[in-house]
Amino acid sequence: MTVPAPHVRIEHHEQPALGIDETAPRLSWHLEDAPAGFQQEAYEISWTLEAADGQAREQDSRRVDSAEQVLVPWPARPLGSRERAVLAVRVRDAEGAWSGWSEPVVAERGPDLEDWQAQMVGPGYAEGVGLHRRAPLLRHEFELPPLPVQQARLRVTAHGLAEVELNGDRVGREELLPGWTPYHERLRVHTFDVTAQLRPGRNAIGAWLADGWFRGRFGFEGGTWNIYGEHVGLFAQLEVTTEAGTEVITTGPQWRSAPGPLTRASLYDGETYDARLHPAGWSEPGFDDADWHGVEIHELDRAVLSAPDGPPVRCTEELAPVEVTRLREGTYLLDFGQNHSGRLRLQVPAAEPGHEIRVRHAEVLQDGELYTRTLRDAAATDELLSTGEAMRWEPRFTIHGYRFAEVSGWPGELAEGSVVSRVLHSDMQRTGWFRSSDPLLDRLHENVVWSLRSNFVDIPTDCPQRDERLAWTGDIQVFTPTAGFLYDVHGFLADWLRTLSSEQARLGGTAPVYAPWIPGGRFWREDQDIAGWGDAATLTPWALFEDSADAGLLARQYAGAKAWVDKVAAAAGPTRLWDEGLQLGDWLDPSAPPENPLEARTDPHLVATAYFARSAEVLARTAQILGRDQEATEYGALAAEIREAYRGRYLAQGVGGTSSDPLHDTQTAHSLAIVFDLLPDAEAEARAGRRLAQLVREGGDTIGTGFAGTPVITEALSRTGQLEAAYALLLSRTSPSWLSTIDLGATTIWERWDSMLPDGTVNPGDMTSFNHYALGSVADWLHRVVAGLAPAEPGYRRIRIAPRPGGGLTSAAARHLTRYGTAEVDWELDGEELTVRFTIPAGTTAEVDLPGREAFTAGPGRHEERTHLPGG
Ligand code: BGC
Repeated sequence: MTVPAPHVRIEHHEQPALGIDETAPRLSWHLEDAPAGFQQEAYEISWTLEAADGQAREQDSRRVDSAEQVLVPWPARPLGSRERAVLAVRVRDAEGAWSGWSEPVVAERGPDLEDWQAQMVGPGYAEGVGLHRRAPLLRHEFELPPLPVQQARLRVTAHGLAEVELNGDRVGREELLPGWTPYHERLRVHTFDVTAQLRPGRNAIGAWLADGWFRGRFGFEGGTWNIYGEHVGLFAQLEVTTEAGTEVITTGPQWRSAPGPLTRASLYDGETYDARLHPAGWSEPGFDDADWHGVEIHELDRAVLSAPDGPPVRCTEELAPVEVTRLREGTYLLDFGQNHSGRLRLQVPAAEPGHEIRVRHAEVLQDGELYTRTLRDAAATDELLSTGEAMRWEPRFTIHGYRFAEVSGWPGELAEGSVVSRVLHSDMQRTGWFRSSDPLLDRLHENVVWSLRSNFVDIPTDCPQRDERLAWTGDIQVFTPTAGFLYDVHGFLADWLRTLSSEQARLGGTAPVYAPWIPGGRFWREDQDIAGWGDAATLTPWALFEDSADAGLLARQYAGAKAWVDKVAAAAGPTRLWDEGLQLGDWLDPSAPPENPLEARTDPHLVATAYFARSAEVLARTAQILGRDQEATEYGALAAEIREAYRGRYLAQGVGGTSSDPLHDTQTAHSLAIVFDLLPDAEAEARAGRRLAQLVREGGDTIGTGFAGTPVITEALSRTGQLEAAYALLLSRTSPSWLSTIDLGATTIWERWDSMLPDGTVNPGDMTSFNHYALGSVADWLHRVVAGLAPAEPGYRRIRIAPRPGGGLTSAAARHLTRYGTAEVDWELDGEELTVRFTIPAGTTAEVDLPGREAFTAGPGRHEERTHLPGG
């Protein structure tokens, strides 16, 4: 049999992996369409190591008898500063047949500390103070030897946001670089291969700079600015290799600066581009910058420079309007048919010089007009002042969340094709899919995908549209399992978890309600320990581990996870009940009135103690995986004590269906008790499940959960044999429910169940976003239970195939690109006859558990099984 060549990855990086920090990155590979019965017995890695200047090549290879194929250790000596490795992998099966070699992959280190020569430079003129400072341009010309450029790397970061041009052309397609980290702790450098953009002789480099998160207005109640400093700056190092050696061109005192054509650039408010102020040819050699200013050098501790773990933000799709309505002369309302994050690109016809075109954005309409109250203090308005000539324009340093846009000041008729919406988010690989026989359910799943895309914008934000866009820890905590299935979010979230850890280190263990931390207005303080939110420190790394089995990530996050549990243990004290202090609890359950999202049905301290138990348990398991046996025992014992305390307090009060105390006999209380294993035995669990199902029925199959209960309620029902109630809830079209939002036209997941009220008007509350992923965490259950695809052990080396048809669905399917390759389940129900087809990737086995059949195991390959639904 022929063994196909493996597909290889370096850590969680894109290819080519340039400028990475790891000196010994791990390798993973998978085989698509391996022959049935294939088993890897050995692998061979061959590599070439090359110094930064292309000299000193070393070649070697290594064979290892091993079935491992995920995150295997680096085979070569550690990579030195700017060293490059090109590697290929092949695998051998049990009969001794070798696969072909994989496509070569590249791992290239960034510079060691002493190899940084660049300085942080900012405008050398007085920018003025205040909110909207004109965005500067920086430029520099340099001479290269009269020889072909063999290799060139541009490393860029900024205080603020930067976009670089070389010889008049933009470098890369990355947006909003360098993203958002606590800049003085960690500043990410992006590395570009710019070999093709340079030429022998005279060259020019230029950069656009903007305020971004660094000093732009951000945060609550009007926000604050200069959050990280008063001065924007660019830090760039260009390393160019020719036959004559390597030249290093850097930002430094010889650069020039001038105010640019962006007279206003804000993430929340949008930007204004005065095309008349654009200096033609400014990033090309020969431009006369005599009237430009010098630059100012700003302090930078180069030890904070670091490579990103995840992919950058890019435009991943363009949406054409599905409907264009002329509102008045020159004013058009555009419907892109899909709520998303991004910005428009306009092809503007000729007009008078200085003619102004304005674009406003909104998620919803009311009375045929944009409805912008829900944006709160974000103006989300972009403006173009035209030169008079026809031109193409897209804002540079802003991003909005919208489905609708209003374009005003348009000269003449808006021709087809003159406006597209560019969808922007972190450019992660899609890895998960779901479909079913129910179009509404499929739309719900699509909405989850779109809310993920809209909010994975460098950091995991709560929402893309209003004046927040903060990485709320609770939101990502509940959503990580879903996200990990749908996209390869490992690099993205591993990177953000570094931020969380660094905030925690500063705050003595507290994992704040959002990270990076910025001033929190009247309500939020950085030292608040909030259940469900701070638990991102323990549960998000764990959820990623379940998908990828990346123990390295667990190890890196261990200190933060432990610090969080210790912090909560101290707050709870010897009773082990976390029953004092502010808690967000089951935030935004449907009973919460518009003016108070905190006023949920379930006792917030019950939620807090439940999360405390869960985090202690997960920490114990984490410690065990990391070989920290002593701590595993200690935290295991702590978790047991919390469960005891929880039972002592809450079982008596009604959790588990024993009595009906209104604060404890709720959908969320029972669901958490079941899914977090808080009940004493199977009987108690079954009773809780029955009571939960009864509550669902009594509520007319409507949902009664908020951020804490929603991710677990369907799981709690299916786990306790109440599948019918789970489906009734999932498929209910009576508000509040998932599908009733679809009936009201939702194309993303809403922040609250009734962001739009059943009469089609917008909820009057302040917390009314139409694009928050938390309530979309039910998609995890669609994948695991409805379609029936889940890891049976972390990393999918053992896969669980266990579909649970119901709710009148006649088919469902899910597919996930695991680290081992594609795993897929696809079932069809014909009367009571269930046909299940599934594909198991090479290197894994499946535990198959079909209704009405004994469980069995299956090996790699495609399978088809039939069974009768029991009771049929
Ligand atoms: C955010 C949420 C967040 C919550 C916490 C809101 O403003 O949008 O998603 O988790 O605050 O209170």
